[in-house]
Amino acid sequence: MPDTITITDDRTGKTVTVPITDGVFPSSAIRELDPNLYVYDPAYLSTASCRSSITYLDGDNGILRYRGYPIEQLAEHSTYLEVAYLLLNGELPTAEQLSIWVDDITHHTFIHENMRKRFVDGFHYDAHPMGMFVSAIAALGTFYEDAKAIGDPDARHNSIVRLIAKSPTLAAMCYRFSVGLPFNYPDNDLTYPANFLNMMWKIGDYEVHPALERAMDVLFILHADHEQNCGTTAMRVVGSSQADPYSAAAAAASALYGPLHGGANEAVVRMLADIGTIDQVPAFIDSVKAGAGRLMGFGHRVYKNYDPRAAIIKSAAYDVFEVTGKNPLLDIALALEETALSDPYFVDRRLYPNVDFYSGLIYQAMGFPIEMFTVLFAIPRTVGWLAHWDELLNDSDQKISRPRQWYTGEAERDYIAVADR
Ligand code: SDX
Repeated sequence: MPDTITITDDRTGKTVTVPITDGVFPSSAIRELDPNLYVYDPAYLSTASCRSSITYLDGDNGILRYRGYPIEQLAEHSTYLEVAYLLLNGELPTAEQLSIWVDDITHHTFIHENMRKRFVDGFHYDAHPMGMFVSAIAALGTFYEDAKAIGDPDARHNSIVRLIAKSPTLAAMCYRFSVGLPFNYPDNDLTYPANFLNMMWKIGDYEVHPALERAMDVLFILHADHEQNCGTTAMRVVGSSQADPYSAAAAAASALYGPLHGGANEAVVRMLADIGTIDQVPAFIDSVKAGAGRLMGFGHRVYKNYDPRAAIIKSAAYDVFEVTGKNPLLDIALALEETALSDPYFVDRRLYPNVDFYSGLIYQAMGFPIEMFTVLFAIPRTVGWLAHWDELLNDSDQKISRPRQWYTGEAERDYIAVADR
């Protein structure tokens, strides 16, 4: 059988045959049949918006690979900055390349004092840290004259380094502001995750615990990229207009903020706290099945199997709890998972734990307030957004994103004076 698809327009008898490559066929086939014919695909359930070689997902088999490397191997052996290099450059770095890359990131962690002393003071005392983070990412671009020079590879590299290096600094700044604590400056003698934890928590002689430093690095690796998710699609759409990467990343972070996307880790912990005790789990599951709400942290557009990241996070949780003490909500989460995975409602809809189901339990055990959870997702996802942005700019197939619509409004009609309405 040929790897082609033939489409016939029964209105005209015209047919077109196009190749199917890796499960994809070009929509130009539709335009060949009728230039005014469009495929109606709300939420892009059946649309491949781009070609990409960065991340591979197999939803049926729960597979996630960054540039071909299984996420399980990267979580076990790599570091976030090494994974960031891999996502951006397509290959694991040599020892020398890694050393130069880490040094580059480490020496770009400071932010302009105007951000620290003036910009952040404009927020209300109880501003949500993710709302502040989104704003700070956009504002960051106003400090660099080469921000808009997206056609210059060196300028693009500068912006990529700045955003990766400064997102933890901005995140910690948002947290420290929200609790009225003085800011900690970056410490260039620390690793990327340790520097973030130090900026978050340092008061007096604070020392970063190595087990928490490693857990943070693994969580950063797991959240770094996930192909064409909502936030990354926003990055690509905004980037397609040749907006600067700081503005595009702010758009991506805004999409991530939603409770159906990166905001789910915060929603999971609120859900677990509302359930309160294990004996309330059956009643909660019944309420979800009755349509009263969703089991947050469950389900995924692509994974119709266990999210491989959830499995790794679940095991990492125990390493963290060794240091911090077990999060009491863990038992409720485990009971929810066990109940849901044996209930036809969830099994029939192929709903499994996703990356957000257990991550919040770790963050909470580490002392992060739940308002910071989505910020913790955004920090590492910054490199995913940037890798896709860079790939977009180098893709000859790409141009400004501008879909069409299915118009269901009124036909032409004449204006009526207000006295006659
Ligand atoms: C992330 O895309 C990515 O890669 C995202 C991400 C990344 O790394 O970037 O992986 C990160 O966003 C993970 C997802 C975090 N969100 C949540 O945990 C929120 C809860 N989950 C959902 O709302 C939902 O599962 C989505 C949004 C994740 C996916 O939604 P879809 O693919 O649009 O599926 P759907 O809403 O059409 O649901 C299909 C059916 C519906 O039931 P029916 O109408 O067929 O009867 O499944 C039901 C839904 O009601 N359903 C759920 C459910 N998720 C879907 N029912 C109860 N609880 C849920 N969590």
